[in-house]
Amino acid sequence: MLYPCPDDLVIATKVGGTRDENGGWIWAARPEQLRATVEQDLRTLRRDRIDLVNMRFGVGGPAPEAVPLAAQLGVLTELRDEGKVDLIGLSTVSADVVKNALEITPIAEVQNAYGIANRTDEPILDLCREHDIAYVPYYPLGSAFTGSPQTLAADPAIASVAAKCNVSASQTALAWLLAHHDRMLLIPGTSSVGHLEQNLAVDGIQLDDHNLATLEAVIHLGAPSF
Ligand SMILES: NC(=O)c1ccc[n+]([C@@H]2O[C@H](COP(=O)([O-])OP(=O)(O)OC[C@H]3O[C@@H](n4cnc5c(N)ncnc54)[C@H](OP(=O)(O)O)[C@@H]3O)[C@@H](O)[C@H]2O)c1
Repeated sequence: MLYPCPDDLVIATKVGGTRDENGGWIWAARPEQLRATVEQDLRTLRRDRIDLVNMRFGVGGPAPEAVPLAAQLGVLTELRDEGKVDLIGLSTVSADVVKNALEITPIAEVQNAYGIANRTDEPILDLCREHDIAYVPYYPLGSAFTGSPQTLAADPAIASVAAKCNVSASQTALAWLLAHHDRMLLIPGTSSVGHLEQNLAVDGIQLDDHNLATLEAVIHLGAPSF
């Protein structure tokens, strides 16, 4: 429960999917569902405005009837004009959708799966650099579901840079991400205060050109599969 929370806390939410009675994801991506989700989130958070709302495109489960992108972004733009939303982002999205969305409205953030061992999203990161869009890599450590922090620690390139910089393998993977875009925002998941402190300290880790070149040899595992 986030309420009560400081006024200057930046809150980002996600719309486009919801849970069924068994906890599975189902789509909720029609314009009226998007509006209802944002308004429910405002009530739950007891706020007048959400700082950033991500429109989620990959939900899983049966595909919904086709909903035009312009209608989905149209309702989020209306909510922004009403002062209920500040910024609009996109999540689990293809390059084509990002390009089409930019024709419709300014996009503040893209949130996609990406990390040192999963670089398949490079073309979208290029788009973000080109349009000065914040990029939020999810599964920045390869995901909690696949034990990937341990896999990263076993990679010889990561292990050698981590040892040289006197930091952990996970910190090396996160520092590598920060070095890849001026507007990279990290959301590593953790259930450990110690890991949270290590992850916050990544801001102070500078990887030089030699270390970045060494990390080019990291074994590419692709997107985590479950
Ligand atoms: N937009 C989307 O559609 C979408 C989809 C999936 C996920 N996400 C979001 O992405 C974020 C990250 O996802 P995730 O948590 O599944 O994957 P992740 O951040 O890649 O990996 C989390 C795993 O890393 C471990 N870890 C974290 N910090 C560590 C450290 N300093 N040293 C060693 N291990 C460390 C955690 O274990 P401990 O608990 O032991 O620290 C956990 O097992 C979450 O906020 C999630 O909600 C978004």
